[in-house]
Formats: sequence, structure tokens, C-alpha cells
Amino acid sequence: MALGKVIIVAGTPGTGKTTVARAISEKCGLRIINLSELAMEKGYITAYDESRSTYIIDEDRLVNDILNLAKSSEEHVLVQTHYPEIIPRDIVDRVFILRTHPLILEKRLLERGWSRRKINENVMAEILGVVASNAVNAFGSELIYEIDTSSTKPEDVAELICLAVNGLVKLEPGVKIDWLTMLSPEEVFKFEDYLGSEE
Ligand SMILES: Nc1ncnc2c1ncn2[C@@H]1O[C@H](COP(=O)(O)OP(=O)(O)OP(=O)(O)O)[C@@H](O)[C@H]1O
Ligand SMILES: [Mg+2]
Repeated sequence: MALGKVIIVAGTPGTGKTTVARAISEKCGLRIINLSELAMEKGYITAYDESRSTYIIDEDRLVNDILNLAKSSEEHVLVQTHYPEIIPRDIVDRVFILRTHPLILEKRLLERGWSRRKINENVMAEILGVVASNAVNAFGSELIYEIDTSSTKPEDVAELICLAVNGLVKLEPGVKIDWLTMLSPEEVFKFEDYLGSEE
């Protein structure tokens, strides 16, 4: 089995994974796998968490499918997910983490009509850099590339990722974005109540 063939596009919900992945598939023809959609399609669901309005996924079966896809593919496969850490490191080529300024992310999630609780939970995860930090723990900083999607166009983010994947642009690895340093305490506290009641 050839190793290092999975390119991951990760990020908090709303940071732009699906939008960017679609543009990447048009621009550089990579096959795109959406981990959550694959789990739903295959019925890899073990339970539904009512309080968080999310499905609990059977990770073992999902990872097994990704391993088989990577093994059988000649080309890079692009996996989009907000839980990249479940993918075995030895099949991962690199991980692009999409980041979005928390106040812009809040606007995007409000447009989706999400509950205040779900918005706060996800914006707080972005403030704390949960996806980025999990990715660093799982893969090491040297495989991680952050891209800020707050004020760029999805096509430009896709272009940058295609260039980087094809070795035409060299990005600096590691996690550098810390939204906490760019927000006032009031702006942070606004999202603190993510265990409160649904609105
Ligand atoms: N530079 C950008 N890159 C990506 N998306 C952007 C950018 N600028 C604005 N957006 C907008 O942000 C939204 C991102 O939504 P999208 O569904 O792609 O996020 P996601 O990360 O796939 O979320 P989820 O994890 O819930 O599936 C879209 O409405 C998109 O148009
Ligand atoms: Mg998506």
C-alpha cells in the first residue's frame, strides 16, 4: 500500500470545508469524501445525542472504509471532516485546517438557523482552536497548515490548497491563529453559555 495519500480539509462547522472542497474538486480534480456524509450513507451511526443534536458515529467502520479507499486509489483522496484525528497518521499526507474569525463564524451559523446553544458550542470550539489542537496532537505540527477563510473567497482558498498539494506553493506548517488574542473578554463571554437552554 502506498502511504500518505489522504489530504484532510478540517475545521469547525461553518469554516468552509464543503464549499472549499467543492471548488477543489473542480480546480484540481481530487476525489472528495465527506466523513459525516459517508457515515450517514453507510449507516455507521451508533446513537443520536439529543442534547447536542448530533449523531454518534461508529468510527472503526468509518476508518476502515477510508483505509480501503486510500489503498485502492492511485490519486490523492481529499477527506473533509471536523474530527480529523480519527484518521490513521500513516495514510495522511497533510492537513489543511480552515479557520474563521469567531464573529464571522457566528454570522455564518446564524444564517443556517442554528440554535443559540449549537452556535455558541461551535464558536467557542473555534475560539479555543479545538479542531486545530486535536489535529496537532494526532498528526504533529509539521503536517498541519492553517488557512484563514474569514475574508477570502472559497475559490482562492481552493486555489491555494491545489497549489500546495501540487508542490507549487510552500506554506508554513503549524498552528499560529489564536482568536483569543483578537477578541475582547466580552466578545468571548458572549459564547460562554453553551450548556444553556435551546432558544
Ligand atoms: N473563504 C471562504 N471559504 C469557505 N467558505 C466561505 C468563505 N467565505 C465565505 N464562506 C461561506 O461560509 C460558509 C461555509 O459553509 P460550509 O458548509 O462550506 O462549511 P463546513 O465547514 O462544510 O460546515 P459543516 O462542518 O457544518 O459541514 C458558506 O456559506 C460559504 O459560502
Ligand atoms: Mg460541510
